[in-house]
Amino acid sequence: MFLALVASATAAIAIPLARAGVHRSPLSPTRIQSSSINTCPGYTASNIVKTDSTLSADLKLAGTACNVYGTDLVDLKLLVEYQTNDRLHVKIYDAGLNVYQVPESFMPRPQSQNAESSGAAIQFSVVESPFSFTVTRTGTNEVLFDTSGVPLIFESQYVRLRTKLPASPNIYGLGEHSDSFRLPTTNYVRTMWNSESPFIPRNSNLYGSHPMYFDHRGNAGTHGVFLWNSNGMDIKIDNNPTDGQYLEYNTIGGVIDLYFMAGPGPVDVSKQYAEVVGLPAMMPYWAFGFHQCKYGYYDVLMVAEVVANYSNAGIPLETMWTDINYMDGRKDFTVDPDRFPMHKMQELVTTLHNRDQHYVLILDPGIHPAPNYPTYSRGEAQGVFLKNSTQNGEYEGVGWPGVISFPDWFAPNTQQWLTNEFQTFFNPTTGIDIDAVWVDMNEASNNCGGPGCPIGDNGNPPAPSTSPRPNTGRPINGFPPDFNPPKSKPKRQSSGIMTGLPGRDLLNPPYHIANHWGTLSDFTIWTDIINTGGTAQYDTHNLYGTMHAHAAHAAMLARRPTQRPMVLTRSTFAGAGAKVAHWFGDNDSNWSDYRISIAQMLAFASMLQMPMVGSDVCGFNGNTTPDLCARWAFLGAFYPFYRNHADTSSLPQEFYLWPLVADAAKNAIATRYKLLDYIYTAMYRQSETGTPLINPLFFVYPNDAQTFGIDLQFFYGPSLLVSPVTVENSTSVDIYLPDDIFYDFWTWAPVQGQGSYTTLNDIDYNTIPLHIRGGSIIPVRNASANTTTALRQESFYLIIAPGRDGTARGELYIDDGESIVQEGGVTDVVFTWDGSNFETQGDFGFGGGKRGESIVVEKVVVLGQGEVAGDSDKAVGSREKRAVTVQGPWGLGGGFRFRL
Ligand code: NOJ
Repeated sequence: MFLALVASATAAIAIPLARAGVHRSPLSPTRIQSSSINTCPGYTASNIVKTDSTLSADLKLAGTACNVYGTDLVDLKLLVEYQTNDRLHVKIYDAGLNVYQVPESFMPRPQSQNAESSGAAIQFSVVESPFSFTVTRTGTNEVLFDTSGVPLIFESQYVRLRTKLPASPNIYGLGEHSDSFRLPTTNYVRTMWNSESPFIPRNSNLYGSHPMYFDHRGNAGTHGVFLWNSNGMDIKIDNNPTDGQYLEYNTIGGVIDLYFMAGPGPVDVSKQYAEVVGLPAMMPYWAFGFHQCKYGYYDVLMVAEVVANYSNAGIPLETMWTDINYMDGRKDFTVDPDRFPMHKMQELVTTLHNRDQHYVLILDPGIHPAPNYPTYSRGEAQGVFLKNSTQNGEYEGVGWPGVISFPDWFAPNTQQWLTNEFQTFFNPTTGIDIDAVWVDMNEASNNCGGPGCPIGDNGNPPAPSTSPRPNTGRPINGFPPDFNPPKSKPKRQSSGIMTGLPGRDLLNPPYHIANHWGTLSDFTIWTDIINTGGTAQYDTHNLYGTMHAHAAHAAMLARRPTQRPMVLTRSTFAGAGAKVAHWFGDNDSNWSDYRISIAQMLAFASMLQMPMVGSDVCGFNGNTTPDLCARWAFLGAFYPFYRNHADTSSLPQEFYLWPLVADAAKNAIATRYKLLDYIYTAMYRQSETGTPLINPLFFVYPNDAQTFGIDLQFFYGPSLLVSPVTVENSTSVDIYLPDDIFYDFWTWAPVQGQGSYTTLNDIDYNTIPLHIRGGSIIPVRNASANTTTALRQESFYLIIAPGRDGTARGELYIDDGESIVQEGGVTDVVFTWDGSNFETQGDFGFGGGKRGESIVVEKVVVLGQGEVAGDSDKAVGSREKRAVTVQGPWGLGGGFRFRL
C-alpha cells in the first residue's frame, strides 16, 4: 500500500510505507495529488476578538482551493478558551456547523471555567497570515505546539494539522497500539480506526482509539495534547532535514478540537486529562481477584470442572468466565439447551456465589435476525437496529451466529431494549445472575464487512453449516444460502448541525488511512450506514464499542442499582475508562506479546485514564509454554485486571496444569492478594483524582532521562517497582534503579539505586523482582486467602520503607468493596513516619461491614533499621533482622501513633 508522506513544506513525495497487518484487502491507490497538496493555500485569520479568557477569529481560505482529498472549506472559525489555568481548548471548525463533531450525547465536553489568560500556565498566540498558532509554557516560553510552516488543510474529507516538535521527543500515548511505550519518532504512523486485530499486530491500528499524547521534556516539563475527534485518522510522527521533527494529524473528517494540558509534571497531565474525559470508574474489590476464562469450555460441566480443579490445586479463583460457548447457536441472551441448560447454569452460579466466587458471561453486539428469537424481535419492534443504506431494511453483517443486525446506539429505544434483555436473561432468580459482563467484537467486528462482501477466509463464501450446534467456535450458521447482503448504493447522507457534511464518499474517501484491514469498511459495519439522528458510521465508527460498553454498563446498573458495575470491553474510545474496563484483545502466546503487555498497560492506566486493564495472561492465540505461563502468571498479578484466557484452538492453559505454573501462580496470587488493599487504595485515588495507579518510571523520576524509554519495568501503585524477567529460558534480568533508596520486597534488604542498570540473577519462576521505593508506607494483609471475601477477614501489617531523608508516607482506603454510595462509612487514612514518630490521620469510618471484616493492624515494620551485614538475601530469618517490628494490634476504628 502506498501512503502519502509529506516530506517538506515545499515538496511532497509518495513513499511506499510497509505496514504490518493481516488479511489486507487490495486497495485502489490513495489518490495522492502530490503536486497539489503543496499548493494548498492555508488560511488567513481575521476579526480576532480577545477577552480575558477567550480568543475567537474567522479563518478564510487564503487562495485557490487545492481540493486534494475532498473540497476545501472556505470559512472556518477559531475558538480558543483558557478553560482552567492548566487547560487550553483550541477549536477550528466550519462556520456552517455542518462538519461532524463528536456528539455531546456520547460524552459531555468539559466546561470552561473561564480562567484568565494572564494567570494560565500555557499561552496561545496566533499568526494571522498565513494562519498558524503556537502554545507556549508561561514563564519559560518553551514552545509546546507550533503549527507554522505547513498550512492547515481543512477539506470535506481530509483535515491536516502539523506541529513542530523538538528533536528526539519523548512522545507517549496515542493508544491503542502494540508498539514501544515511548513512540518511535521517525516514519511512524498511528492510525485511529478501531478494528478486530488478531495477534495485535505491531505498527497497526488495534481495538481502541485515544488521540491523546504526552510530550515529556524532562526538566522543561510535560504536557498533553488531546484531539477530540472520532474520525479515522493517521497521526504521523516523523522528521526530515527541512522541517525537523513533527507530529501531523491527518483525519478524514471532523473538526480540530484540541485540549492542551499544561502539566508541568506527567502525573499532573494525567489528572488534567481526567478532567477532560472523566475520572475512571471505581471497580468492585472482587474484580481485583484472579479470573479464569477460555474460549472452548464446551459445556457447563467443563466450566464447573475448571472451578473444581482450581480448588483442588489450592489456587485461589475469584471469578469464572464463560465465552460464547454457552449460547444457543451463538445468540446473545440464550443458553445452549443441551450443553449449558438454564437450570445447570443457575446451579453453577449459585454454587459459585455460595463459595464467594463470581461469574461473568460474554455478549457480542450483533443480534441474529432469526424467527422466534425474542431478543431480536423485541429489538426489531423497537427499531433498535441499524438500517441499510436504502433505509428499507436492516443492515446485516456476519458474526458468530451467522447473519447479524447491529444495534444502533443512537436510536432512542436501544438502551431500554438492552436493559430489558439484561433484566430478563440475567435475572437473579429466573435467569443467570452474573456479576459482571464482557462485551466483545464491538469495533464492530463484521465477517462480512466491506464492499467486497461476502468473502470467507479463503476469499469464498463459507459453506453454510447443516449442523445447528457444532460448537467448534466457528460462526456456526455460516452464510445461509439466501444471505445476500445489500449492495452499497449512492447514499442518503446526513446534513445539519454537526452531523456530517453532505456529498462525501463514505465508503472510499480519497485519503486512505492505514487501516490494517484495507478499506474503511473491511471487517466492520459499512461506513456509509447512517445512525439515527443522521450521523454516519464513517464518522462514529470509533465510538461504537464504547457506546456498546456504556449501554451494558447502564443495563448492569439497572440490575444492581446500588453496586458498581464491572463491564469489560474490547473496543474503546477516549473516555471509555469513566465507566468500563478493557483487556488488550487477542494477543499471542509468545514472549514478545508478554513484553508488550507492559507498554499497553502503562499507556492505558497511567495516561489514558483507563486503569482497569490487562492482557490475556499466558497468551490467547497459539499454545503457551510452561515457562512463559509461569512468568506471565506473575506479571499478570501486577496488572490491574488479571485474567488467564485462551482461544478455542489453543491447548488449555489453566494454572494448575503444570507444577511450575501452579507454583508460580500460587505465590503470585498470594502476593497480589496481600497487596490488594494497597492497589485498591491506588485505584480509588485514581477514580477520585486521576492520580495513576500504574506508573512508568518517568512519572516518579521525571528528570531522570534514563527512565524515559523504560517499558519493561513499572511502578505498581505509587511505591512498588516491578521488574519481571522478560526473556525466554532466562533467570536473569537487567533492571534500572533510579538514584534513590529501595528495599527488596522479599528480603527487606535496602538497595541503593545508582541511576544505572544492575543484573539480577537466579530469579526462580515462582517469584518476581519487586522493590519498595524509599519514602513509602505499604499496607499488607497478613495472609492471603482463597477469595477476596475471605481476604477481607485478614488483619494488616504496615511496611515503613524510609526514604533518604528518613521519612515515609502511605495511604489506606477501605470501603465495603461494592457499593456506589458507601452508607456504612469508609476508612481513608494517611500514614506518616518522620524518622521516629508514626501517625495515622484521616477518616476511620469503615467499621468492618456486615461481615465483621478486619480493620486491625497487627504490627508495623520499619525497614532499614536492623542489622544488615552478614545475611545472605535469601537466608531464613534475615528479613526480620532488617527491620524493627513494632507490635500492635491497633484497631483502625481511630488513629494510632507510636514513637520509636
Ligand atoms: C474474540 C475475543 O477477543 C476473544 O477473547 C474471545 O474468546 C472470542 N472473540 C470468542 O468470543
